[in-house]
Amino acid sequence: MKLFNYIFLIFPFLGFSQELITNVPNRVTTSLNGEWNYIVDQYETGYYSFHRDAYDQQKGFQKSAFYSNYHAQNKQELVEYDFDKSPTMTIPGDWNSQKENLFYYEGNIWFKKSFDYDLKENKRLFAYFGAINYKAEVYLNGIKLGIHEGGFTPFNFEVTSIIKEKDNFLVVKVDNTRRKEAVPTLNTDWFNYGGITRDVLLIEEPKSFIQDYTIQLKKGEKNTISGFVKINNFDKSADFVTVKIPELKINYKGKIDADGIINFEITNKKIEYWSPESPKLYDVSVAYNNQVLKENIGFRTIETKNAQIVLNGKPVFLRGISIHEENAKGGRAYTEQDAVRLLTWAKELGCNYVRLAHYPHNENMVRLADKIGLMVWEEIPVYWTVDFTSLETYKNAENQLVEMITRDKNRCSTIIWSMANETPISDARNTFINNLNAKARSLDNTRLISAALLTKSDGLNSYVDDAIAENLDIVAFNEYLGWYGGNLDDAEKIQWTSKYNKPVVVSEFGGGAKQGLHGEKNERWTEEYLEYLYIQNLKMIDKIPNISGLSPWILVDFRSPRRLLPGIQDGYNRKGLISNDGNKKKAFFVLKEFYNQKTKPH
Ligand code: GCU
Repeated sequence: MKLFNYIFLIFPFLGFSQELITNVPNRVTTSLNGEWNYIVDQYETGYYSFHRDAYDQQKGFQKSAFYSNYHAQNKQELVEYDFDKSPTMTIPGDWNSQKENLFYYEGNIWFKKSFDYDLKENKRLFAYFGAINYKAEVYLNGIKLGIHEGGFTPFNFEVTSIIKEKDNFLVVKVDNTRRKEAVPTLNTDWFNYGGITRDVLLIEEPKSFIQDYTIQLKKGEKNTISGFVKINNFDKSADFVTVKIPELKINYKGKIDADGIINFEITNKKIEYWSPESPKLYDVSVAYNNQVLKENIGFRTIETKNAQIVLNGKPVFLRGISIHEENAKGGRAYTEQDAVRLLTWAKELGCNYVRLAHYPHNENMVRLADKIGLMVWEEIPVYWTVDFTSLETYKNAENQLVEMITRDKNRCSTIIWSMANETPISDARNTFINNLNAKARSLDNTRLISAALLTKSDGLNSYVDDAIAENLDIVAFNEYLGWYGGNLDDAEKIQWTSKYNKPVVVSEFGGGAKQGLHGEKNERWTEEYLEYLYIQNLKMIDKIPNISGLSPWILVDFRSPRRLLPGIQDGYNRKGLISNDGNKKKAFFVLKEFYNQKTKPH
């Protein structure tokens, strides 16, 4: 079948935004992962005419027309393209690390997957994408389903009325071009992996089904499980929902209100609380009509009190590390094995906490953190200089925030939602981030809100002075003593002050070292330099008032187009405690010992 004929067969697309279906791993799904055909479309020939008129937004487009008016009049057909004769790529997977000739490619690639599907009369079907970086335009059987922007959060479209028993063709236009108005914007210190980078699934549901739910502890009430269940297409065929947690002898039954939602509160004094040391998860089931959804959910309280972070009523110190979502091949990570590789290293380091930078990671990471006991900082890629004056940019950032919180709000390991990283202070930026903060709290008033801020210093005095800190629960900041300035020998003389009576987390510090390169501790890029940098920074950090945690930058060396020093970086940011080929640097053991000391009773 020719790609571009499909997209001419476009009825007014069903592009209304579909609300996210959650707990997808435990639903009835059919995977479309595997080999997909792809066509590199550098000039977007499949989307625009030679005069740059977009085919699927062309005026006067007749619903029944097989071709756009343009082609009908001109009897032209794009005959130079044919998916079935085109090469294939493994999905999920970024194109950069799969195809050498696409390593640095930034632009448009069309993907196509053909499949059969026998959808029974009383069922509905949804096409679900775990993530596509960066912008996706999705068509099924020539009909445009819609558009999604944002490279790290899931989305789904209903396809019930379009699916056929045989020869369905799912076409996805992926564009990873960086743009000033995008989120993130043009400049980042990570690799812009393009493509369908997470699972593609078909989700089969009853006519009226459980779309989403929250089941967590109510804010400030450790004996109250509260939340909601949302029914999609509530048709009153059944008007109650049950929530069961057998181990707690909870068998709650509640009536759904007119708009298909039920809010509930369940008191229980027997809850065993989740913690990194004891990551207790309960078997939970949510039932409605003939549908039962199961999930493992943990319960814990998280709050701040007296400028401390308090987990289950006790002050906790976040022994963390920052992590980028990259796999052993040097591509975008997405599998459970990738998650095991990264989080096992974090545990080996002695961590009870990880910062998943700088965007929402794949769902395997947060589900594994629940299971093995790691608290999590999640963030959206409002990074450096996004366009804070643009309403379109704000709506995009807010949408990514909503999708992140919607997907992970039942993950007890997630304790912090972060709004931004190292953004330059301005009135527009303050409004932008304060609005994101308010949106996050409106969706989830139980977790802590933070942002990785920049610091100021005069001489040996260092501090944070940033208006948005007033609205954050945790004042987090990135400092690079000994790498982007400052003298490591002064570390213990540096005085940190904080004008906010809030917990402080050092969300980044670090330096670069080529694993295996040895020399004196004052020789940049040697392991000895990085080792000394950690020794000195940790001494300084340990004295910061209200210090409540840290997540040094970073667990593993990672690709960045900004890091090119031949023989040392070669396209990698070398601040990892572990090299990209899995070898630990001496600084790994400095941090490990520091955390080991932190766990000893004072
Ligand atoms: C910044 C930024 C990171 C970056 C790091 C570095 O703090 O937040 O994304 O990789 O510094 O310079 O290595």
